[in-house]
Amino acid sequence: MQYKIATLPGDGIGPEIVDQAVKVLKAIGEKYGHSFDFQFALTGAAAIDKVGEPYPDATHEICMAADAVLFGAIGDPKYDNDPKAKVRPEQGLLGMRKKLGLYANIRPVATFPSLIDKSPLKNDRVEGADFVVVRELTGGIYFGQPRGRTEDQKTAFDTCVYSVDEIERILKLAFEYARKRNKRLTVVDKANVLASSRLWREVSQRMEKDYPEITVDYMFVDNAAMQLIQWPKKFDVMVTENMFGDILSDEASVITGSLGLLPSASVGLHTSVFEPIHGSYPQAAGKNIANPVATILSAAMLLESFNLLDEAKKIKDAVNASLDANFVTEDISKEASKSTSEVGDWVADWVKKN
Ligand code: IPM
Ligand code: MG
Repeated sequence: MQYKIATLPGDGIGPEIVDQAVKVLKAIGEKYGHSFDFQFALTGAAAIDKVGEPYPDATHEICMAADAVLFGAIGDPKYDNDPKAKVRPEQGLLGMRKKLGLYANIRPVATFPSLIDKSPLKNDRVEGADFVVVRELTGGIYFGQPRGRTEDQKTAFDTCVYSVDEIERILKLAFEYARKRNKRLTVVDKANVLASSRLWREVSQRMEKDYPEITVDYMFVDNAAMQLIQWPKKFDVMVTENMFGDILSDEASVITGSLGLLPSASVGLHTSVFEPIHGSYPQAAGKNIANPVATILSAAMLLESFNLLDEAKKIKDAVNASLDANFVTEDISKEASKSTSEVGDWVADWVKKN
C-alpha cells in the first residue's frame, strides 16, 4: 500500500528524533512492501522564523491531504520568557489541533520491565502499571471565549466551556477504549466546584447505561493526581477535560520512569497526529543525544491507525530488543550512552533482519 505521511519535525530535538522514526518506517516499508511518502512541512518556532506563523496554511493543506501526521515537538526558549510575544510556537500546535478537529489525545502509559528502576516510585507501586489517559483536546479553558484582559489591563480571564456534544464524543471514545481493555473507566473532573465538570458527570452517568459491561468511577482531579502516584496500577482508562488532562498526562508519563519512551496519538475529525509526549528539549537540540524511542513508538501507533498491526508490533519488538540490549541513549544509561542516530539505525536494522 501507499501512504502519505505529513512529517512535521518542528523545533529543538524534533528534527533529529523525527529522522529516526522516518528511518524505521522506511525499513518497515521495505520489509512489508509499503511505500511511505514523507511530505515535510514547517511548524512551531521554525515556521515563525521562516514564514512568520507557527502553523502555516501550506502545512495545514499537507496535513489534510495526508493519511497521518508524524509530529516532532514545538517550543523555543526565546518565546517562553517573553509573555508579550505576538506569535508563539504553541499557537501552532493549538491551531493544528483545532483545524484538524483533534478532539482526543491518547497517551498509553506502561512500564518497561528493564527500566523499572528509573521510576521515581517504589518498584512494587509501578510494576505492571498499564493505563491510558484520554484527554479532551479542543475544548475547555484552552479555547473558551471570552478570554483576555479588561480595558484597564488590570484583570485577565479565561473561560472553561463544554457542550454536551463535545463531552459525548470524547466519552464515547474513552468508553470504547475501556471496552477493548480491562473495562474500567475513571472520569476525572472537579464537579464539586465547576459547572462544566457537573455537565461532564451528568453526560457520563447517562452514557454509562449504554456500556453496562464497563465499571465507571468518578474522581475529583486533585484526588486523581494523588492516586496516580499512590497506586497507578488501579487505573485502566482515565478520561478528562483539556487542562486537567494536560497536567495529569504529564504526571502519568513520569511514573514509569520512561518519559523519553512514551508515544501519543491525537485523533478526531480529520487526519490523526502521532507525536512523542515529551517536548522540544532545546538544551539537547543538534547534539544527537535525545532519545528517539518515543517518536519511533509514535510511528508504531501511526501504523496501528492504518491497521498495519504486524508492522506496528515489529517496531515495538525492535524497541524492546534495543532496551534489552541496553542499546540506549544517555537518559536511560549514562554508561551505554548511544547517540540518537545510532539508536535509530539499530532499531531500523533490527526491523530489517527480524
Ligand atoms: C501538551 C503541551 C501543550 C499543551 C502546550 C505546548 C501548548 O503541554 O501537548 O501537553 O498544553 O497542550
Ligand atoms: Mg502538556
